[in-house]
Amino acid sequence: MLRIATIGTSWITRQFATDAGIVGGIALACAYSRDAARAAEFATAIGAASSSDDLPGMLASPDIDAVYVASPNSAHFGQALAAVEAGKHVLVEKPAALTAADFQVVSDAARAHGVVALEAMRTAYDPGLALVGSMLGELGVLRRASLRYCQRSSRYDQVLAGERVNIFDPALGGGALNDIGYYCVSAMVALFGEPNQVVARWTTVPGGADGAGTALASYPGLVVDLGWSKITASSLASEIEGERGFLTIDRVHSPRALRLTRLDGTTQTHEVPGPEFTLAFGIQRFVDLCRDGGDATADHARTLGALRVLEAIRTSARDGDGS
Ligand SMILES: NC(=O)c1ccc[n+]([C@@H]2O[C@H](COP(=O)([O-])OP(=O)(O)OC[C@H]3O[C@@H](n4cnc5c(N)ncnc54)[C@H](OP(=O)(O)O)[C@@H]3O)[C@@H](O)[C@H]2O)c1
Repeated sequence: MLRIATIGTSWITRQFATDAGIVGGIALACAYSRDAARAAEFATAIGAASSSDDLPGMLASPDIDAVYVASPNSAHFGQALAAVEAGKHVLVEKPAALTAADFQVVSDAARAHGVVALEAMRTAYDPGLALVGSMLGELGVLRRASLRYCQRSSRYDQVLAGERVNIFDPALGGGALNDIGYYCVSAMVALFGEPNQVVARWTTVPGGADGAGTALASYPGLVVDLGWSKITASSLASEIEGERGFLTIDRVHSPRALRLTRLDGTTQTHEVPGPEFTLAFGIQRFVDLCRDGGDATADHARTLGALRVLEAIRTSARDGDGS
């Protein structure tokens, strides 16, 4: 049994607890909150054996093997690093850090301490994305792709009402790019590798975070546009175009329905079984790595590449809006 402690008491940690139960091999050992009463209440709610409001104390405990970090984005780096330096495996929510340099530090520390650090990027471990990757060869030479994730957040209403909301707070690493835009970035890097160049533009919301944006990534012979938004919605699918056909993907962050259209007029559809939203595939990868002492080099390379693209998008978009 991998004895895991959780950081964060929002719905995503509840989802983690549910999906960890589905994966199996995990014991919820402790729930941490900055507030002791909330920690105790949350531990009861998710069935954790204990609770804590003392993070260094919890990380020093011999009763935990691993930590799941689901705090605001700006806290990921410090908490993940503290966990690995305490000799604990860490599964850290996306984005694992705000910069590639920070994640490199976590990666190096994990290697030095003989523990696993993994970004909980569910798209990267989703069998739907693996199927997309396996079908690219059918498309001929790849030339264009549009990867999109646009979903209006109910919390945007709070922003419009003048409230401060973590997920839209730049001081906490909030904003649409770091949130749902990152699924498009991660999928792009997983499918095509890192682009040579990125240009981007975004629109901001009150408080300064980006609410929606577009990026154009170029590769030798291939261009990819990324579209993301937490302030509008869209029904457009993602699509990858090659010289012999195109692949339509219902949701790039969680592909469940794929349609291959060959330019000879034939089509092929694929349904990917499984719920639209699950952390289980990433949790399974984490458990396997922890149990088998597996090699996370490729996982880290993908995370580092995606974080470099995230930084390039931010730089280009900020240049564009003059901020
Ligand atoms: N993989 C996915 O599909 C998925 C989905 C949603 C979210 N996420 C990720 O999960 C993470 C959490 O997102 P969320 O929307 O749940 O965040 P959130 O509600 O703003 O914060 C999560 C938890 O962190 C603690 N917290 C709040 N403000 C904090 C602060 N200023 N400093 C330190 N801790 C603070 C709170 O717990 P206590 O007050 O009890 O300590 C809170 O329950 C993000 O990184 C997000 O990207 C991933």
